[in-house]
Amino acid sequence: MTKRVDIVEVGPRDGLQNDPADLSVSQKLEFIERLQDCGVKRMESGSFVSPKAVPKMAESAEVFAGIARREGVRHIGLALNEKGVRRAIDAGADEINFVMVAGEAFGQRNQGMSPQDSADELAQCAPLVHQAGLPLSASIAVAFGDPYDGLIAKGVVGGLAARAQRAGVAEVAIADTIGVADPWSVEALVDEVRLYAPDVYLRAHFHDTRNTGLANVAAAIRAEVDVIDASCGGIGGCPFAPKATGNIATEDVVYMLERAGFETGLDLSKLIETACWLERVLKHPVPSALLKAGAFPS
Ligand code: COA
Ligand code: ZN
Repeated sequence: MTKRVDIVEVGPRDGLQNDPADLSVSQKLEFIERLQDCGVKRMESGSFVSPKAVPKMAESAEVFAGIARREGVRHIGLALNEKGVRRAIDAGADEINFVMVAGEAFGQRNQGMSPQDSADELAQCAPLVHQAGLPLSASIAVAFGDPYDGLIAKGVVGGLAARAQRAGVAEVAIADTIGVADPWSVEALVDEVRLYAPDVYLRAHFHDTRNTGLANVAAAIRAEVDVIDASCGGIGGCPFAPKATGNIATEDVVYMLERAGFETGLDLSKLIETACWLERVLKHPVPSALLKAGAFPS
């Protein structure tokens, strides 16, 4: 039996939020349209945060309003506070992804919150999302390490996942925001989070900052996490993480998984074409390996 792995495309949000290029709303919409053509069924299409903090996401409401919606495709709005959740719901997001934070120092810089504050804010926001009838997921940022505070105790991440479960969150993403995880720490953290929050579905989010991204995906799948975030072209990074680099590239993840016999439902050649298009509109090379090497067998 072929095992399915679902990929959440985060290029239009995590990918573009820190890119030096300033895409227009219509270019962002073309990116989203191309990703829909690739078969993407869930994508983070924008975030609803302070435009002063992340200017590249200031036009997310216009982006959501312009998306040519397709049956069965969910466009996720990212939010970090109540104002963001309300804006995302009003903009027509199909799902809300709320960001909790595992590190104190990064939390203050990224969102003006401690880990505890982010869990309290989520508890306050969850009923709004549920009343709107939308699915709610939560990402735990810097789950493997904080760029300022260093290592994060696994129990802190587990405790946040437990708070998310109590708030009625259906899916929790363990996010390696600064790309410091290794495959063994991925398996250990997944096991730990399952002890604290046995009822939530797990998702994994990796940045390839130290070349461990795809190995971490393999480890997450071995640990039976079957929803993976990835960004077309491998673009992205957090503006509040020094030396941040991109997410693992969607086409690289799809190639690895499909070579190994997994099914993703995504069209690899269209993803490569989209990464190629991205290089043209961003006007710089993107990290994707498949864009350089092509698929095999061709
Ligand atoms: N959307 C738009 N504006 C927002 C907002 C939101 N979700 N939340 C707050 N603001 C505005 C307030 O209205 C206020 O505006 P004003 O100065 O014109 O009065 C200002 O931002 C400050 O509000 P405050 O509640 O004090 O927020 P803050 O300054 O503590 O910032 C966040 C909190 C979360 C809004 C901010 O840190 C942020 O946007 N961070 C984004 C981080 C991010 O996206 N990282 C990458 C993804 S993880
Ligand atoms: Zn990220």
